[in-house]
Amino acid sequence: MSEQMSPADRAKYAAAHRAAAFVEDGMRVGLGTGSTAAWLVRSLGQRQRDEGLRFRAVPTSQRTAEQAREEGIALVTLEEAGWLDLTIDGADEFDAEFNLIKGGGGALLREKIVAAASERMIVIADIGKEVGRLGAFPLPVEVIPFGWQATQRLIEETLEAADVLGREVRPRLADGQPFVTDEGNYILDLHLGRIGQPRRLAMVLNQIPGVVENGLFVDICDMVIAGYADGRVELRDRDRGASQQDNIELPRPGNLFSDLAE
Ligand code: 5RP
Repeated sequence: MSEQMSPADRAKYAAAHRAAAFVEDGMRVGLGTGSTAAWLVRSLGQRQRDEGLRFRAVPTSQRTAEQAREEGIALVTLEEAGWLDLTIDGADEFDAEFNLIKGGGGALLREKIVAAASERMIVIADIGKEVGRLGAFPLPVEVIPFGWQATQRLIEETLEAADVLGREVRPRLADGQPFVTDEGNYILDLHLGRIGQPRRLAMVLNQIPGVVENGLFVDICDMVIAGYADGRVELRDRDRGASQQDNIELPRPGNLFSDLAE
């Protein structure tokens, strides 16, 4: 129910619901991961039921795949899809240049592959994710389990020369054990405080042996749809350099969206 949804949830819902309108019949769509993406999957399921919308989707995680199946969304692999028309995904931070930090949910590798294999990427987020400079949110880096401590050390050495505020690297844990991604890898969270040069950092991190991918998305996002708790949304288009406003009706008490509220 919208009364029971937190302000952040209402904002996420608004952004996700607006983004769902960009999906057209016959499209091949990448579906992101996380709580905002979950609202998107629900909205797309509703469009299928209400409007007969038909599209095929590539999920970016097992979690999203499971939810999409429950919604009756047709899933294909990226190999089967070949290329995607559109990917819609959440973010942990976004800045004015459409740079992102992603991977809070641990799905950054598939998310980056899927977004990079798409004509267009739309990011959906509550406005609280907007930052002047990326880096307050710890930057996730996916690493191969073999020798991960050596990889961590190499990352720490690399950070000494990087334009960042903090340099602490922490392995992500789940129940006291290393968090394992859908690809069987580990995540190191880099507590950087502020990232001066995201593009450069993304490149140097990916050159370290053992690093599979990092959560900096540079030159990938085409549009940000930022949601507000009152249902307002702001659509920012990178190519047009323009921003447009819209209003989304929030879910009514007792409707089918209430179970996703945090
Ligand atoms: C998962 C992600 C998510 O998109 C990101 O963590 C945002 O999550 P949420 O929508 O729950 O705030 O990158 O790997």
